Amino acid sequence: MRTQVGIVGAGPAGLVLAHLLHRLGIDSVVLENQSREHIERRIRAGVLEHGTVDLLTEIGLADRLHKERMVHHGLELLFDGEGHRIPLTELAGREISIYGQHELVKDLVAARLATGRPLLFEVSDVRVSTVDGAVDFVHDGRPVKLECDIVAGCDGYHGVCRRSIPAGALRVYERDYPYAWLGILAETPPSSEELIYAYHERGFALHSMRSPRITRLYLQVRPDEDLAGWPEERIWTELRTRLARRSGFHLADGPILEMGVTAMRSFVVEPMRYGRLFLAGDAAHIVPPTGAKGLNLAVADVSVLAGAIADFYAGDPAGLDRYSERCLRRVWRVQHFSWWMTSMLHRPDDGDPFSQQLQLSQLRYVVSSRAAATSLAENYVGLPLAWT
Ligand code: FAD
Ligand code: PHB
Repeated sequence: MRTQVGIVGAGPAGLVLAHLLHRLGIDSVVLENQSREHIERRIRAGVLEHGTVDLLTEIGLADRLHKERMVHHGLELLFDGEGHRIPLTELAGREISIYGQHELVKDLVAARLATGRPLLFEVSDVRVSTVDGAVDFVHDGRPVKLECDIVAGCDGYHGVCRRSIPAGALRVYERDYPYAWLGILAETPPSSEELIYAYHERGFALHSMRSPRITRLYLQVRPDEDLAGWPEERIWTELRTRLARRSGFHLADGPILEMGVTAMRSFVVEPMRYGRLFLAGDAAHIVPPTGAKGLNLAVADVSVLAGAIADFYAGDPAGLDRYSERCLRRVWRVQHFSWWMTSMLHRPDDGDPFSQQLQLSQLRYVVSSRAAATSLAENYVGLPLAWT
C-alpha cells in the first residue's frame, strides 16, 4: 500500500491534518488503533479557541459546531467566597466556544469518510520506520506495509511514533504535578452560564459544561486517588463546598454519566521531527488541562504541518525543516500559560502557607488589574495559530 502522508492516530490532530491535506489534493491514509465508537464517545476537552473555530470553519468542518456550540464571552475566577468575572471578549477581542471534543471527533470522522479516502480503525501492531517512511501494521488480521513520503505521528502521548525515535535524538522537558483532576459528566443543566475556576483551601474545582443539559465538573484530588473512595454523594458535597460563595450559590446535581481521574503533566519533546516522521499534538507535548489548551495546540501544529507539506510537494522543503521550530514557539507560550494557571489555582500538596499567600495575591492582582486580566484573556482565547 502506498500513500503520500501516513497519519498515525485519528484524534483531533490526525483528522484535521487529513482534511487539510485532502483540500490541498494530497493523499493520506489514517490509522487508528481504537474503534470508531470508542473515539466518538471518549470524553475529553471542551473549550475551543476562536482560532481553532476559524480554521475548522474555513475548511468546512464546522457546520454542526456553529449550530450546537455555546459561545462564551467571559469566565469566572472564584476565591475567598467571591466570584470575579474576566470579560474575555471585552479584553481580548475574541470569544471561546464550548463544544465537546467527542462531538468534534464525530464531525471529523464523518468528513473524512465522506472524502472516500482511507481511515482504518482497529489497526494493531503499528510500527514506524523513521528511515524509509514505512508504517507496518495489522488490519483485519492481515499484516500491511504502508509506504509513505512523510509520516505524521498524531497518536497522542501514549502512542508509538515518539517512541520509535532513537532516545538520544530527542530532548525531553517534563514536569509532573502532585495533584490530578477527578472529572465527572452529569446529566443536569449548568449552574452558571460561564466556566468557574475555583481556588479553595480544600483544593481546586472547575465548573464547565457540554450543553444546556450536561454539566462537566472537576475536583483537584491526589494523583493516586482511588475512585472507590468517591461515591456520588461525596463528589457533590465536595463540589458544593469548593464552589460555595458568600452570596450563596446553588449547584444543581443529577445522575453522573461518567467519571475519571486525569493526571496533570507538562511535557515537551524537541525537535518535533526525526527524518520523515513529524510529531503533532499530544504525541509531542502535553499541557495540564487548567488552561484548556491541549486540543487547540494539536490543531495549531497540524495547520503548520499541512502548509509545510504542501510546500514540500511544490518543491520547497524549507517549511518542513522549520516545522519544529515554528510549532515549539507557540507550544512553549502555551506551556507557560497552562503551568501558570495550574500553579495559581491548585492547593499545594504540603499546604505551605507562603505559597498560598502568593496564589491569593496573584489572583487578587489578576482580577483587579486590567493589564493582568488582559494577559489572562489574551492567552485563554488563544494567540494566533501562527504565533511566533
Ligand atoms: P489524541 O486525542 O490523544 O489522539 C490520538 C489518537 O491516536 C487516539 O485516537 C488514539 O486512540 C490513537 N492512537 C494511539 N496509539 C496509537 C497507535 N499505536 N496506532 C494508531 N493509533 C493510535 N484540551 C483542550 O484544548 N481543552 C480542554 O478543555 C481540555 N480538557 C481536557 C480534559 C481532559 C479530561 C483530558 C484528558 C484532556 C483535555 N484536553 C483539553 C486535552 C486534549 O483532549 C488533548 O490535548 C487532545 O486530545 C490532543 O489531540 P491529539 O489528536 O494530539 O491526541
Ligand atoms: C472541560 O470542559 O472539560 C474543561 C474546561 C476548561 C478546562 C479544562 C477542561 O480548563
